[in-house]
This record gives sequence, structure tokens and C-alpha cells, in this order.
Amino acid sequence: MDRSDTTRTPAFSANTTQQDQEEESVYHALERFYNAGKVPWDTGVTPPELVTLIEGDGRLRPGRALELGCGTGTNATYLARHGWEVTAVDLIDSAVAQAREKASAMGAAVRVLHGDATRLDELDAPGPFDLFFDLSCYCGIPLHRRDAYAAGLTERAAPGARLLMFGYGPEPVGNPMPEVTSWTEGVTADELRTRFPGWELLDVTPGTNPVPTFWFTLGRTSRDIDLTV
Ligand SMILES: C[S@@+](CC[C@H](N)C(=O)[O-])C[C@H]1O[C@@H](n2cnc3c(N)ncnc32)[C@H](O)[C@@H]1O
Repeated sequence: MDRSDTTRTPAFSANTTQQDQEEESVYHALERFYNAGKVPWDTGVTPPELVTLIEGDGRLRPGRALELGCGTGTNATYLARHGWEVTAVDLIDSAVAQAREKASAMGAAVRVLHGDATRLDELDAPGPFDLFFDLSCYCGIPLHRRDAYAAGLTERAAPGARLLMFGYGPEPVGNPMPEVTSWTEGVTADELRTRFPGWELLDVTPGTNPVPTFWFTLGRTSRDIDLTV
């Protein structure tokens, strides 16, 4: 496990714009969950959708995987234990620390990096990756950072790479932080088609949650696109 990366705090400019403030709100909301030790999404269980991709009929051949928003590392550890060379990224240092502990306790070689999934150039995660996994990270990312997220993955994608993403759909009611508009917008299939040129949306399967959720599978199709954002 690589512990050599420096722990960094996302840099929010002193004269924050409205957009930067939204990033800051998301960051502090997430930090509060982890600091309180009450992390509602942390089930400790690898979802069957990922298990099927890794172990089911037609499973992927193990290669390099990058998990975006790994939380406490349950799924990064799972992937490493199934033969994948795993790099995992999370924005919150306490999540990163827990992910490193979990991987270490399970004897899994996972590189857990502290940083921003929309700023992968700042991290030591060059790829190329055969698999990207995102369980409910992208859908919480402020809208103005999502093109950078997509470009970061696209630049690091091996030919034919897959992206398996779970996300919340639009939810106008029930957002605990209305100022964080990304949490209201969620993610849709149409958005992913637009934001991921050079990828094909291969599958959309509704989740089983009481609110709209989806499992999206995307496949990298070509490299002939303009990656500038
Ligand atoms: C809903 S939680 C899910 C965590 C984990 N995937 C799981 O299922 O347990 C979303 C995770 O994404 C992380 N996250 C949110 N925005 C991020 C960003 N821009 N870069 C990296 N991680 C981010 C959060 O800190 C949090 O751990």
C-alpha cells in the first residue's frame, strides 16, 4: 500500500466564487458525516452489481481499477482481493485513513489517495485504467466540476475501459442541503451521454432504493475526441 502521497486539503480560494462555495459546502458536509462517525452510506457490503461485473458470467479480466470517492474502502479492498491493481481516491482525510486501515487489515494492496476526483492531474494516478468505479460520488459533485471529472477519467481510460457508476437521480424534495444544487440535480443518463463523449452508455439499471437511483455502465469507445474543458 502506498502511503507516500502527501495528505492535502482541497484548496478553496479566499475570495470564493459562488461555484467555489458550492464545492466548499459539499466538502464540509461530507467532512461532518465522517467526523461524526455517522456515515449513512457506509454499509460495508460490496453491491451485487459490482460483484457480478467482477465474478459473474462475462466477468472482466482483472487489470487496473480506479475508484472515485472510495469512502472507507470496502469496494477498493474487494477489487484488490479479486486480483485488481487498485487505486482509490477520496476527498475526506478521515475516509482515506479508514480506507487504508481496512485495506491493510484485509491484506489488500490498495493505493488510497487523498484528493479530488475532479482534479486527478494533482494526484499520482496516471493509469491507464481498465475499470472505474463510482458508488455515489459523481452524483454529489457540483455541476461545474463534472466535465473535469469526465475528462480526468477519459484521459486515463485504457481502450475499452468500463465505468460502473451508481448515482441518485434528480430529487427536488428531501435535499438536506438545498444550497448544494448538485445534490438536487443528481445524475441522469442524458447527462452522462453529454458529459462523456467517447464513451457509450451501455446499460442503465434502476436501483432498489425508495428514491430514484441508477446503475450506469459506460464503455470507452474511441480516443478521437477533444479532452479540453
Ligand atoms: C456517498 S459517499 C460513498 C462512499 C463509498 N463509495 C461507499 O459507497 O461507501 C461519497 C464519497 O465520495 C467522496 N467524494 C465526494 N466528492 C468527491 C470528490 N470530488 N473527490 C473525491 N471524493 C469525493 C466523499 O468523501 C464520500 O466518501
